[in-house]
Amino acid sequence: DGDVYKYYADGEWKKCSSGKTVGIVNPTTRKTQYKVQACSQEEVNKVMDLAKSAQKSWAKTPLWKRAELLHKAAAILKEHKAPIAECLVKEIAKPAKDAVTEVVRSGDLVSYCAEEGVRILGEGKFLVSDSFPGNERTKYCLTSKIPLGVILAIPPFNYPVNLAVSKIAPALIAGNSIVLKPPTQGAVSALHMVHCFHLAGFPKGLINCVTGKGSEIGDFLTMHPGVNCISFTGGDTGISISKKAGMIPLQMELGGKDACIVLEDADLDLVAVNIIKGGFSYSGQRCTAVKVVLVMESVADALVEKVKAKVAKLTVGPPEDNCDITPVVSESSSNYIEGLVLDAKEKGATFCQEYKREGNLIWPLLLDNVRPDMRIAWEEPFGPVLPVIRISSVEEGIHHCNASNFGLQGCVFTKDVNKAIMISDAMETGTVQINSAPARGPDHFPFQGIKDSGIGSQGITNSINMMTKVKTTVINLP
Ligand code: G3H
Repeated sequence: DGDVYKYYADGEWKKCSSGKTVGIVNPTTRKTQYKVQACSQEEVNKVMDLAKSAQKSWAKTPLWKRAELLHKAAAILKEHKAPIAECLVKEIAKPAKDAVTEVVRSGDLVSYCAEEGVRILGEGKFLVSDSFPGNERTKYCLTSKIPLGVILAIPPFNYPVNLAVSKIAPALIAGNSIVLKPPTQGAVSALHMVHCFHLAGFPKGLINCVTGKGSEIGDFLTMHPGVNCISFTGGDTGISISKKAGMIPLQMELGGKDACIVLEDADLDLVAVNIIKGGFSYSGQRCTAVKVVLVMESVADALVEKVKAKVAKLTVGPPEDNCDITPVVSESSSNYIEGLVLDAKEKGATFCQEYKREGNLIWPLLLDNVRPDMRIAWEEPFGPVLPVIRISSVEEGIHHCNASNFGLQGCVFTKDVNKAIMISDAMETGTVQINSAPARGPDHFPFQGIKDSGIGSQGITNSINMMTKVKTTVINLP
């Protein structure tokens, strides 16, 4: 009936007082795999107090010592890659190999954060007053970066470890404390990751992880007066969080409808490889997945043939077998994806493969001749279904990309670098990749969405800066 896991607060593993739990359903078996504590609002209040007081002394801990602990946690995390990856396989059906990669990438991210933190937080500015009109050199201004306080970290199901540490590590190196609310699917993987930080020996109360029902503690957490910053990755919920949150910095990475614009001179073999990687890795459940292909009509037939041949080679099955396509995260997600597929069918899209679904497992599907009146032209399936829209001009492609309410990433394939830059400038997205599929990494690159895709910028350096504020001291000379 599923192992029961405790939540983490004050450096200890605890059971919630109500005795209630939340079940985590294995997407492959559709059976309850694990259970986690259903924390109450009272328990959240206690955690907030702990995080607040732990942060005060952590902020005074030397930067090099904070970095040392992070390096230790990174090494432990990598040592624990096998059991954590196993949880990822069971909770979110991530293919076994990718699950290991997620943990290793996370360890690297934590180490890089420690290194970057000691550099960028190790220096401040010195300003003199007489550069501004009317002033003599009577004031010296010293700046440094100070922590914000308690950071609320809310990662999504698709990277419960990596997108948790991408918030935790910058927060900690900058002198903040953490309250982590993992996604329900992925909560046990996140708790294992927190265990690695526990083993590294961070002070009690500095890192806390509460689990529970969104309906009970979701709004309560995000509107809690003890929270000084929210870093959230996920879906539409982010928009409602940003409306309800108080006057605190927010970092939000929400959905995407990343377009892949293919020009007539593109290397179609390269495009096909990137469409497969970009559209179908982790069964399309990445915010940066290629979610619409906008291809010039003259090369569309050739490209579709190449992609079709590669789709036929994708293996479909359980994550334990390292299949390329694995069950999507939940029944409601598979139903949503199916709704988009049926809508496209009704409106006349060309099915390059037969639509097939067993439980949460959806076979990879390429839909050609998609038109703007189809839902899939605009909505984010978060599944292994990819629409192709044939365009007759570059402008049409840019127009479709910019008409989306999302603006995360996009990509353009051409051998003409001038055209590529021109298109990149015209695309209203946070990042444009030239001749490669969209991706967040390497993890020190800036990562940001515009419009409904989010606010603020991530990536290691930007996250550290975002989780600090500038403090100035002015020396007034006689
Ligand atoms: O799902 C959203 C992630 O930030 C995407 O990361 O590009 O490494 O898959 P990724």
